[in-house]
Formats: sequence, C-alpha cells, structure tokens
Amino acid sequence: MSHVKGMRCKECGREYPKSPIYVCEYCFGALEVNYNYEAIGKSLSRKKIENGPKSIWRYKELLPIDGEPTDGLNTGFTPLIKSRNLAKELGVKELYIKDDSVSHPTLSFKDRVVAVALSKAKEFGFDTVACASTGNLANSVCAHSALAGLKRFVFIPADLEMGKIVASLIYEPNLIAIEGTYDEVNRLCAEIASKHKWAFVNINIRPFYAEGSKTYGYEIAEQLGWRAPQNIIVPVAGGSLISKIWKALNEFHKLGFVSEVKTKIYAAQAEGCSPVVTAIREKSDIIRPVKPKTIAKSLAIGNPADGYYAMQTVRESGGYGAYASDSEIVDGIKLLARTEGIFTETAGGVTVAATKKLLEEGRISRNESIVICITGNGLKTQEAVYDHIGKPYKIKPSLEAFEEYLKKGVVQR
Ligand SMILES: Cc1ncc(COP(=O)(O)O)c(C=O)c1O
Ligand SMILES: [Zn+2]
Repeated sequence: MSHVKGMRCKECGREYPKSPIYVCEYCFGALEVNYNYEAIGKSLSRKKIENGPKSIWRYKELLPIDGEPTDGLNTGFTPLIKSRNLAKELGVKELYIKDDSVSHPTLSFKDRVVAVALSKAKEFGFDTVACASTGNLANSVCAHSALAGLKRFVFIPADLEMGKIVASLIYEPNLIAIEGTYDEVNRLCAEIASKHKWAFVNINIRPFYAEGSKTYGYEIAEQLGWRAPQNIIVPVAGGSLISKIWKALNEFHKLGFVSEVKTKIYAAQAEGCSPVVTAIREKSDIIRPVKPKTIAKSLAIGNPADGYYAMQTVRESGGYGAYASDSEIVDGIKLLARTEGIFTETAGGVTVAATKKLLEEGRISRNESIVICITGNGLKTQEAVYDHIGKPYKIKPSLEAFEEYLKKGVVQR
C-alpha cells in the first residue's frame, strides 16, 4: 500500500482520491495530502533517513509522490549554521541560521516546493506547468521545468526586482508580467487554471507543492541532532512555509524521531504587508487583506491563501509575530552580512529584524535555542540595498595611487 492514502479536507475531513484538486466541493475548505503514518512508521527510521540522499528526497516517504522522485534531485540539505557573531550581537546563547540562500538551483527555499510539485505534475501526466509568483517561485519553476523539459507559463507582478526577472527569463519561459499586485496576479491565475489544463504549482497542485516546505523543518530537526529547537522565526507571505515547518516537527514527533516538540513558532512580516502578524498581535481570528507596500516584494501577499493556518500555527505553538519597516529590513540584511557573511534577500532582512524585535520585547528568551529561517539570496534583490552600502573607491593603476588611498583614512574595519 502506498504511503499516501489520498486527500482530505482540512475543515470538514471529507476524503478525496489523489488528483490535481485543491478545494473541498462541499465546504470550500483547503485540501491536504492524507498519509498512512502507520505504514510510514514501519518503513522509515532515523537511520534510513541518515543513509538517504543529501537532498529533500531523504524524506521521500513523507512526501506525496507515488513513484521515484524525478525533479530536484540536488535540492535541499542546505546548511544549518551555528552562529557565533550574530548570536553575540543579539546577546543570545544558542542561535542557528537555516540557510536556503544557497538552495540548489535557484537560491531560495522555493526549490523544495517546486521539486515536489513537478515530480507530482509529471505523475499526473501534465506537459505544462505554471505559477503565480512574487519572484522566487517563478525562478524555481522556470529552472526546474527547463531541466524537466516541460512547457512553462509564469505570472508575476510587473514591478519585481530586476534580479528576479532575469533569473526567470534566462530559462526562456512564457513570462507574463501583470500590471497589478500579487493578489491580482493570483486571482487571474485561478481563472486561467480553471480554463487551461496546466499544472499550476501553487493552485491546483498546491496540496502537493506545499508539502515540499516540510523538508525545511525536517532538516532543522535532523541537523540539530534529532531535536526540535525552542524557537523558530519564519518569514510569512502566503503562510504555507510556517505551517509546514510546524507540521514537519509534529510528524517527526509522531514517528518518534524527536522526543518532544516544545517549539514556539514566530511569524515575520514587513510592516507594509503584515496581515498575519497584525491578526496575531491584535488577537483577532480574521486575517484582514491589505494592499502591500514594502521593499520585501517576495513577501508582498496582501491576502494570504494560508494566512489563517499560519496564524493558527503561531497560536498553537505559543509563539508570536513581529514586523519590520523598510529601513529595519535593510539593517537586518546588513547585520546578517556583517556578522555571518551571508547575503540574504529582503525576506531574510525581515526575519533578522523581527528576531531582534522579539528579543527586545522579551517574547523570545535569550537563553533558549533559536533558529532563524533565511529563505532567499540577496543577489536577487540588490535594489533594496544599493543606496545603503559603500561605493567602490576608484584609483589609477599605480602603487602610488594605492598608497595615497590608504593615507586618506577611508579604510573600513
Ligand atoms: C524568500 C521567501 N521567503 C519566504 C516566503 C514565504 O513563503 P510562504 O508563501 O510559504 O509563506 C517566500 C514566498 O514567496 C519567499 O520568496
Ligand atoms: Zn470540506
């Protein structure tokens, strides 16, 4: 028997066979993959995982594909870095950085979800993939579908950073830039998805795609020596990653791979687009949609599909939320670069800034273990920092000119 039983509505529990559908036709609740954990428990062990490939597919039994994986064979198993300098700067004892800014092949955690989505899309027999994206997902869908030889239609808001546009166009997709916000792009894509029989990775394939984010959580626990940390700070856009990290830790507990999960999960958003964090801080049950205005374009989703579940994750775990202004985002990016030598994108700046605030507010204890989720690479969002860093010092090609420069007193630490 396969380790995937089928699909189930998260709200009413009604069951469905495995197929490219995403909403319950009775209550309009979101569908999710329904696993046979008893069977998984019999065939999977820590040892088996440790002996598996150094990719997301070491957790294959906990991912929703039936055959062998065909995509993202080198994706995942990114470093979990024990911080020294940033920990000291923040005054905390045990700090780790889960670094997906070096994800293969497109430098963001979206490679994980796309690896699962495309493996599944191929099992379903699709020849065309598509997505609505704030940038990173677009890059990843383009790269993975190029390798897989699938046709690709990628929809983005027209005002994305040049790095994100170039990192899609290089793979020769059909790239459609919409004059509007991500939420408008997404709405249009839902209409297109009902007309064209394509695998929209974050629409009709979403229940399968989203499961890929669990691997980020599995890796944190495995790399900590089969232990769940006390605090994890996660950047939130659609709200899927944060919910799936929580799910991953609880699955590991259910299977006996970690002895306890006392992890508090924290949501990080930009001040100019914080529907989830606002609901958490106002103790509201309603995620009020907003019109985003922030330099953190990858997180600029005003009406998050999984916002409610993100909020529930934070509540259930006993965590909290914090948001960062544009200038705090830039400071966060620079702080991580200066202390740890990691150049993250704006989403990472949001996470670092939110962590700092949560520590200052006393929401996170300085004596507990903390994992910061760095999910994307700064080379893609250079516009955000361009006016906030130094400039190269230009000189003539002579030793004299160089010595002159040294004497000017402009040398950095
Ligand atoms: C770099 C980065 N981090 C985090 C997120 C948030 O992920 P989610 O939409 O699952 O909340 C995104 C989403 O696009 C992203 O691009
Ligand atoms: Zn239902």
